[in-house]
Amino acid sequence: MKTQVAIIGAGPAGLLLGQLLHNAGIDTLIVERQTPEYVLGRIRAGVLEQGMVELLRQAGVARRMDREGLVHDGFELALDGRLVHIDLKSLTAGKTVMVYGQTEVTRDLMAARRESGAQTIYAARDVVPHGMKSDEPFITFDKDGETWRVDCDYIAGCDGFHGVARQSIPADCLKVFERVYPFGWLGILADTPPVHDELVYARHERGFALCSMRSATRTRYYLQVPAQEKVEDWSDQRFWDELKKRLPPALAEKLVTGPSIEKSIAPLRSFVVEPMQYGRLFLLGDAAHIVPPTGAKGLNLAASDVSTLFNILLKVYREGRTDLLEKYSQICLRRVWKAERFSWWMTSMLHHFDEHDDFSQRICASELDYFVNSEAGRKTIAENYVGLPYEAIE
Ligand code: APR
Ligand code: PHB
Repeated sequence: MKTQVAIIGAGPAGLLLGQLLHNAGIDTLIVERQTPEYVLGRIRAGVLEQGMVELLRQAGVARRMDREGLVHDGFELALDGRLVHIDLKSLTAGKTVMVYGQTEVTRDLMAARRESGAQTIYAARDVVPHGMKSDEPFITFDKDGETWRVDCDYIAGCDGFHGVARQSIPADCLKVFERVYPFGWLGILADTPPVHDELVYARHERGFALCSMRSATRTRYYLQVPAQEKVEDWSDQRFWDELKKRLPPALAEKLVTGPSIEKSIAPLRSFVVEPMQYGRLFLLGDAAHIVPPTGAKGLNLAASDVSTLFNILLKVYREGRTDLLEKYSQICLRRVWKAERFSWWMTSMLHHFDEHDDFSQRICASELDYFVNSEAGRKTIAENYVGLPYEAIE
């Protein structure tokens, strides 16, 4: 087989890149390890920056998001019982975010790809990229007992944190930056009305809590828990009781509880690999970087990587501008590191760290106090939360 861009992984990064390239007349083939049902079964984040919203519109996959997504003009910080409103719209001259689940983004992208007739091979085993440093790269994989080879111009590694793309790059060509946090997030999905019309990020001495939502009737809540915690030890009742303790009383009283539809624990990690490319192999999204979920940046960073590679490949195929290819990593990393910083900062400010001594705790509380009581501080939070601009590719 032959294609122009071989894409490994059919998560949001791979599918969105595939859609943009397909619309631009550039041929793609996506190979995905799992089945479509498995991919859609994963519950992930749900806040889209304006840049991602616009990219989805540009890709022609935004009709349902524009109908069903919830535009949020702000969010709340609950700081030891006190609510502080971050008015995103007024602090950023009109910018907002869209609350729309990653699962739904993926569903819309899958439907668009099916309609477009572009090829996706699901349940592909042993995908391997080859010849990345040559002018004739290719990938191989097994499907239904047969081995296939796909020759291509470029390979996009959109295969997440545990994927094969990053692992195919010689270790001495990569530098890894990593921080693992001593806690995780226990998340619950429930068919209950949201406790508040905006997201609430709660700092509390018992630990962080987040009230999020998917729609007017479906909610997503999270609790900070120790890293070794077992999900089996958390009955729904225990979850709701603990959540109420961490919310300001006025919200706790209003909280509507119900049976969980999904419950899972995710570790918190900051991770960046540099560079994000190796010859003709490019890394995008979780394959190259992970952020702790506190700033809702993971999915959005995948989208900005997609935008960067797509715009570079457009110039390559339309204008022969191959000089831009080697700039991919540095362009992406500038934005990646800013989102890493913001996610680390939000995590550091809002979580309880057992190892923090009294001094560190006072410094943290006072830093947060300064930020939320200063217009400049609130602007900084808002500007980062709605998403920093994408760099122009010229
Ligand atoms: N071969 C083929 N496909 C693979 C392989 C492999 N060896 N390894 C992983 N995959 C697939 C996974 O099954 C998954 O469907 O690659 C896809 C990667 O998707 P995601 O993990 O969702 O990553 P990405 O597309 O970068 O999405 C951005 O940011 O913070 C997160 O929650 C956010 O998952 C979202 C991500
Ligand atoms: C979510 O709805 O899953 C969500 C929202 C905001 C975050 C993280 C997760 O910061």
